[in-house]
Amino acid sequence: MVELAPSILSCDFSKLQENLEQTKDTPLKMLHIDVMDGLFVPNISFGFKIIEDIRDKNDYFFDTHLMIVDPIRYIERFAKAGADRLTIHYESCENPLEVIKKIKELGLEAGITLKPKTQVDQILPLLREVDAVLVMSVEPGFGGQSFIEESIDKVRAFRSYIDQNDLSCKVEIDGGIKTTNVIKVIEAGCDEIVSGSDIFSNKDIKGQIEKYYKIFADKTV
Ligand code: DX5
Ligand code: ZN
Repeated sequence: MVELAPSILSCDFSKLQENLEQTKDTPLKMLHIDVMDGLFVPNISFGFKIIEDIRDKNDYFFDTHLMIVDPIRYIERFAKAGADRLTIHYESCENPLEVIKKIKELGLEAGITLKPKTQVDQILPLLREVDAVLVMSVEPGFGGQSFIEESIDKVRAFRSYIDQNDLSCKVEIDGGIKTTNVIKVIEAGCDEIVSGSDIFSNKDIKGQIEKYYKIFADKTV
């Protein structure tokens, strides 16, 4: 079953919980939480406090995407704040495997992600160590950008490596996903779909989430 992970980056932060209430009573199981430090990417989003504050009010799997330099410094803090999965950037640290091990030692799921210009081959050996690989289909840093078509080839490459080696790693995609292009990424082999602006910029947040799940079930728009 394909799962949706709405990115809270596209919420109206002045009424964050109000936006999140509108995701309730849908088949939704995950939220995507984008943390940016202004160094790894040219934008600053939010940190621990927001995660802590929404943790108790929202019984979702917190899929946390760390766009920060040297994430190992803050793994424990994000675990404590209530993250369920920590996904780190391959480009953000010297030794991604060390960070992945630390995340797993704390009992969290670990994910690895790569910028659009980073090649798939460098990531493949890590796939047996992680719970998910996140394909960035836009340059990390901002919501609302256009989908980079070449990302489809990366999804296919990860999918076939995972299947050939019988690994349990999920394939997730993030950036520029809409109800109108989601089918092609599912057909390429995605298990988890991040979508930000297409969900939270819509007046009918709940209806939009239901629309995605209907597409997942019917495989048509
Ligand atoms: C970008 C973030 C994305 C972003 C997706 O750095 O990782 O999760 O919020 O937003 P949309 O779906 O609007 O491209
Ligand atoms: Zn993200």
